[in-house]
Amino acid sequence: MPLTVEKIESGTVIDHIRAGLGMRVLQMIGVGTGYAGRVALLMNVPSKRIGKKDMLKIEGKHIDERTIDKISLISPDATINLVKGGEVIEKRNVKMPSELRAAFKCPNPKCITNMEKIDTRFKVEKAGLRCGYCERVFKADELV
Ligand code: CTP
Ligand code: ZN
Repeated sequence: MPLTVEKIESGTVIDHIRAGLGMRVLQMIGVGTGYAGRVALLMNVPSKRIGKKDMLKIEGKHIDERTIDKISLISPDATINLVKGGEVIEKRNVKMPSELRAAFKCPNPKCITNMEKIDTRFKVEKAGLRCGYCERVFKADELV
């Protein structure tokens, strides 16, 4: 039996999230206790394109560029659908940025960014994200 969720009137639908990561994406967006709009999290939905996927519908939420960049790190196939007046008015694929500024704390306690007031900077590399200050490389899920 299909697991269907109503359409939303206004907000964002994030589709093709890597299966199992929908909850993490919700955290990135900052939707949690206290959020007043309707929210649906579907997990492990069958997908022709990626086998299994997670999906989010968040009423009344617009997602900024910065958050879209963060989502791309853990879910490079995600599609962001902006919904207004009950219709998808914009559909975009996330794109991994080459660098992220002031997006995450560096997990290295000895990194200078944790001692002084400096914005972090991470370079996106094949192996992970490299801190521009201590040069250590971290996996995306160590940072988010
Ligand atoms: N959606 C929604 N509320 C709306 C409009 C769309 O919840 N008012 C959801 C749809 O249910 C769908 C997603 O947003 O899961 C994307 O909508 P749409 O682009 O119309 O669907 P598809 O063409 O199937 O998307 P794709 O090609 O990206 O798989
Ligand atoms: Zn560092």
